[in-house]
Amino acid sequence: MLNFDFYNPTKIVFGKDRLNELDNLIKKDAKVLILYGGGSVKKFGTLEKVMNGLGNRKIFEFGGIEPNPKYETLMKAVEIVKREKIDFLLAVGGGSVMDGTKFIALAACYEGIEASDILFGKETSAIKKAIPIGMVVTLPATGSEMNRGGVITFNYGKWSFYNDLVFPKFSILDPTLTFSLPKSQVANGIVDTFVHVCEQYMTYPVDGRFQDRTSEGILKTLIEIGKITVENPTDYNARANLVWCATMGLNGLIGAGVPVDWSTHRIGHEITAMFEVDHAKTLAIVLPSLWNVTRKDKHDKLVQYAERIWNISSGSDDEKIDLAIEKTREFFEGLGIKTHLSDYGIQFDEIEHLVKALKDHGRVALSETGKITLDVSRKILEGAI
Ligand code: NZQ
Ligand code: ZN
Repeated sequence: MLNFDFYNPTKIVFGKDRLNELDNLIKKDAKVLILYGGGSVKKFGTLEKVMNGLGNRKIFEFGGIEPNPKYETLMKAVEIVKREKIDFLLAVGGGSVMDGTKFIALAACYEGIEASDILFGKETSAIKKAIPIGMVVTLPATGSEMNRGGVITFNYGKWSFYNDLVFPKFSILDPTLTFSLPKSQVANGIVDTFVHVCEQYMTYPVDGRFQDRTSEGILKTLIEIGKITVENPTDYNARANLVWCATMGLNGLIGAGVPVDWSTHRIGHEITAMFEVDHAKTLAIVLPSLWNVTRKDKHDKLVQYAERIWNISSGSDDEKIDLAIEKTREFFEGLGIKTHLSDYGIQFDEIEHLVKALKDHGRVALSETGKITLDVSRKILEGAI
């Protein structure tokens, strides 16, 4: 096992009817800015419940954070935070709202010149504090509710930032708040969580048995409950399992002490930035092809995955790997998520534009080995057509 630090201060408040506990979670004299997306929280009554939970506190609202949140939109919220001297941010939504809120929390306190520097790890000495954040999760997928990262769209690219200051103080995970999700977003959440686990698992073995077994537990749970929770949105237990898997899949636990990859995400971000394909769908496109192309470097873990996740016990190693990749693709497709670029109208000649974007964004030596060069990325994208 590799050396590691593990730190996660976020309090999780899980279960039905927990929104009324907001009153105990935020200090009484806080000036709260509630942040949300395009309106689902209004339509399905979540915002009203949040307001009730906040009692008589001074409340401000900022709606309209779009999927794959844009820097320009978030900077408008930063103005409100500064002008109104907001001292608590409450994100109510999915990954885009949660990530956007984390960025706002840092940008509002940023002491450098351009807040966009936060996205590029520049001028880190100008990041000294952040407005405290709470979260009410309406879409189980990203794990943003219990981690220190966010992803923001800036200048036609998607950029990640990480900072301990943006760990939420608390996150309310009430699975019933996710019942209103359209099937395609539930499927997105399953695939995103699945791939988060894979990015921290499908590398090379370092005898991290706890990490491997925990990752495998999450993957198996997702396979067990995936279809059920897409087809039966109000099946509480199936949805509760998805919600918890999504949080545990990316809160630092399973990636501590093991090598991690993240190249499926890096390549996927270019597809979202260029063609506005949902985040999870880009992962379903890239992952099967990436495993096929990197099968030598990932050999041992791919075989372990085939045997332990899909119970494939016969055949050569290569046959096991082929079948495991096929089963993974079938799992995604069975949830209604297409796995080829062409399914989204992206043609072969557009691959070169994606490779150029990877180059422009410095994504030229990806993966746990750094061996995914631009040529390898091109091969992966060609295999995903
Ligand atoms: O905007 P509204 O009207 O709220 O509608 C949203 C949005 O259109 C809708 N929705 C959310 N909750 C709902 C609901 N509709 C009905 N009922 C509900 N309960 O769902 C749509 C998608 O929302 P979004 O927040 O964009 O989805 P998701 O949670 O998948 O987040 C994706 C973003 O997270 C980033 C992605 O890159 C992308 O920008 N990620 C963040 C990570 C992190 N912070 O650690 C890691 C991930 O890998 C990922 O990159
Ligand atoms: Zn993801």
